[in-house]
Amino acid sequence: MELIVVSDYDELSKTAASLMAKEIKEKERPVLGLATGSTPLGTYKELVRLHQEEGLDFSKVVTFNLDEYIGFSPLDRNSYNFYMWENLFFEVNIKRQNVYIPKGDAPNSEEFCKWYEEEIKRVGGINLQLLGIGRDGHIGFNEPGSSFSDRTHVKKLADVTIRDNARFFEKIEDIPHYAMTMGIGTILEAKKIILIANGEHKARICAEFIERPVTKQVPASSMQLHSDVTVILDNAAASRLRKK
Ligand code: PGA
Repeated sequence: MELIVVSDYDELSKTAASLMAKEIKEKERPVLGLATGSTPLGTYKELVRLHQEEGLDFSKVVTFNLDEYIGFSPLDRNSYNFYMWENLFFEVNIKRQNVYIPKGDAPNSEEFCKWYEEEIKRVGGINLQLLGIGRDGHIGFNEPGSSFSDRTHVKKLADVTIRDNARFFEKIEDIPHYAMTMGIGTILEAKKIILIANGEHKARICAEFIERPVTKQVPASSMQLHSDVTVILDNAAASRLRKK
């Protein structure tokens, strides 16, 4: 695991975006795994800047998103589909048919999950997976206790995740309790992984997944089992690491 500690969120976003841009430029058909949440917003903003000001070309890029809320249509403002188009896809020259996002309103979610896994295989697997991390150590929506061999599936969200997500919803009854997510097994098959985290509130979990033994109770600790992971933290998120 390579650890990069940067001074602030801006530098974190630029570092992650430049690693992703490198992958996009080097690969014939770059396949990216993408994350949502507040952490990657700056990374996407920088990728949009690289496209608009420096001509970074997304025409051959294929993307697979990690997760989506169950019951949400792609047009719902709170769906991750909406987030991705608003924050990245509408702003770059990606082809609509190259965008894959789990479908929260799929009539048969089990069938959909199987198809999603097959599509990832069909394009030759994910070259570079971007990840955030939840305060409980989740990656995607793989909550504590998840098996490291899980594939794309429907998952009940942990209480802490539901509380953390509440800030995005106006009414309490709108807060989702289930999500469709790539499994840890799916994530670990990506050739490269970049995990980003910022802020004091992520310091405890970052120290745990990086420095403590691998455990199902901290899904992100599965990163220790992968041979090409880059973790990018700002100073605040790195503040509880014993060794920097
Ligand atoms: P955040 O979420 O980026 O909004 O902190 C991270 C996550 O839950 O993976």
